[in-house]
Amino acid sequence: MFSTHDFERPRFERHADEHLSMTFHETRMSKKTAALAEGHDAVCCFSEDTVDADAIEILADAGVRLIALRSAGFNNVDLRAADRHGIPVVRVPAYSPHAVAEHAMALILCLNRKIHKAHNRVRDLNFSLEGLEGFDLHGKTFGIIGTGKIGEQMARIAHGFGCNVIAFSKEKSEALVKEGWLDYVDFETVIAQADIVSLHVPLTPETRHLIDEQALAKMKTRAMLINTGRGALIDARALIQSLKKGDIGAAGLDVYEEEEGVFREDLSNQVLQDDTLARLLTFPNVLITSHQAFLTREALENIAATTVDNILGYFRSGDLTNQVSADKDLA
Ligand code: NAI
Repeated sequence: MFSTHDFERPRFERHADEHLSMTFHETRMSKKTAALAEGHDAVCCFSEDTVDADAIEILADAGVRLIALRSAGFNNVDLRAADRHGIPVVRVPAYSPHAVAEHAMALILCLNRKIHKAHNRVRDLNFSLEGLEGFDLHGKTFGIIGTGKIGEQMARIAHGFGCNVIAFSKEKSEALVKEGWLDYVDFETVIAQADIVSLHVPLTPETRHLIDEQALAKMKTRAMLINTGRGALIDARALIQSLKKGDIGAAGLDVYEEEEGVFREDLSNQVLQDDTLARLLTFPNVLITSHQAFLTREALENIAATTVDNILGYFRSGDLTNQVSADKDLA
């Protein structure tokens, strides 16, 4: 297991028995570290691992027969290379869409009501209200891009706050429309009409920089942009320009284009080398979390249980229920 965190290890160790033994590495998977898999039947990777063609070739040479992802997203794996080497890739398709949608709403509420600022202020005995004004979510237009498992929960939560929910998604859910949770419109309409835009699409060549300079220019002045999908859905440099001009009202980012090697690491004794991230961190109306939207007890239990099932299912009976493959999953 690569990129092992303390919070997940005991949940996996509980499943160890005579059929399943595990070696835990804190190091991230890359072509430099893939050889650590020597002697193992499967590798287990997370979203910060780089499972590219070079790493997969090393895994194949090391005798690895399965790549089991502990994530739903799989943009960090070269599925075509895995196919070429005959190594199936499995994932955890849904461990808790609630966890991610609830975190998106946490970012929205915190940014809107400036809870982060208020918290710091009162600790300094500054009880002033100046600059803490927010807006009612009730009656606002909430735009969702991607209404899969997480987008659906986002729609239900936003609806609960009294928002008018509009969405754009490749696959549409008639049930969500029939039950009155949202209305589908085109991408341009979501961008132009929404007071809050929340991104819930996977990162693919098609969705890379979906929110670029042009899209940002079409958004409402002072609109809020929330990204709990993948960093590269947003062109971070274009976002900075928009924030500097005061066009975008606020941004809540759980993911960042160049997060690899930074997010989920303790760099508190180092100098941040990424100037784009450093600039983003200076805005009072930007809230950044370190790719933690998934991090609930329920999600972690589900990730461990499904990953173990994925691995044992494959080696016992060839079960590949949760497989992702280039043919099926790449546009
Ligand atoms: P899903 O597969 O259930 O839904 C994705 C939706 O996006 C589908 O409705 C699909 O039709 C739509 N879509 C795909 N390509 C599109 C395009 N080009 N234009 C418009 N719509 C498009 O996925 P789920 O479970 O809802 O997760 C969404 C993403 O959230 C994941 O791919 C992952 O990147 C991210 N994620 C982030 C986490 C975090 O901790 N921040 C945790 C889990 C997932």
